Amino acid sequence: MPALLAIESSCDETSAAVVVDGRVRSNIIATQKVHAQYGGVVPELASRAHMSHIVPVVEAALKEAQISRQQIDAVGFTQAPGLIGSLMVGAGFAKAFAQARRIPLIAVHHMQAHVLAHFIEEPKPQFPFLCLTVSGGHTQIVLCRDFLDMEVLGETMDDAAGEAFDKAAKMLGLPYPGGPLIDRYAHEGNPNRFQFAQASMPGYAFSFSGIKTSILYFLQREQKRDPDFIQKNLVDICASVQQGIIRMLMEKLEQAARDTGIRQIGIAGGVSANSGLRLALQKTAEVQGWQSFIPAFQYCTDNAAMIGIVAWHKFLRGDFADLNITPSARAAW
Ligand code: KG4
Ligand code: ZN
Repeated sequence: MPALLAIESSCDETSAAVVVDGRVRSNIIATQKVHAQYGGVVPELASRAHMSHIVPVVEAALKEAQISRQQIDAVGFTQAPGLIGSLMVGAGFAKAFAQARRIPLIAVHHMQAHVLAHFIEEPKPQFPFLCLTVSGGHTQIVLCRDFLDMEVLGETMDDAAGEAFDKAAKMLGLPYPGGPLIDRYAHEGNPNRFQFAQASMPGYAFSFSGIKTSILYFLQREQKRDPDFIQKNLVDICASVQQGIIRMLMEKLEQAARDTGIRQIGIAGGVSANSGLRLALQKTAEVQGWQSFIPAFQYCTDNAAMIGIVAWHKFLRGDFADLNITPSARAAW
């Protein structure tokens, strides 16, 4: 039974996983608390935190999987996209591990991994399926024909959906990352109370800069009239912001499902934790006759288990990387 070690370090989570015969045996994630005080991820601090986390995280992943270093047959790592300094730490570790053990190195695309997070646990979608990947860094609709045969149908032209949540939260004076807080307050609010501009983009493209500006001007205008406007209306603002972002996401997803005739539909990435988006997916699935899929929360946010699944399929095909491969901040599939 081949065993793989997988490493994820593209942003601010240091993660290692062990995948044995295509199944995830362990998935350890060290989050970085240092960024909260700055209101966003500070790249240099992220790289340094990865440096101090990577060895203990790998040790913990091996221990939990009850596997020794000598039993690892290949090592997969996130090669792109992400923060270059962060990627370099994971890449450097993976290369050193592969070279020392004389085992194959496997380069993994982070966005493909978010899509294949659907294949970590049951229920798993059938091919072809559509995946809406929504995170702090990306917003994409991906047509997935097979494990390694994917096509990006559309993506954001500016901010990611998670970024839109976080920036709106910042305007409301909420701490970073504000997405989960907007979700929490939205539960108690009226989503129809305020309307914000919805971008109309061609095809399956997204844009969140319009709604962001619309929220900003709205808050500035209202605060001029009443300096306590945010405090008094926080739950309704959060519910309305959340509904605005979800509407844009679901509209394109429904359009893609209609155009392709695909009814196996998944969401992935950190924003798929959003309860409003989950509910919208569930409701639309009922109306449209979709079978919908959402990976468990620990596989939605950045994690090495999903990197391990892509690495596993590349391992089966003998798709190995050269030891002189370099990470890349941006990369096509
Ligand atoms: O996938 P992820 O952990 O990291 C990236 O690769 O970006 O996603 C993090 C993003 C953040 O923008 C965070 O605010 C957002 O996901 N997020 C949420 C929720 N939970 C996480 N946004 C809205 N509602 C949530 N419940
Ligand atoms: Zn991610």
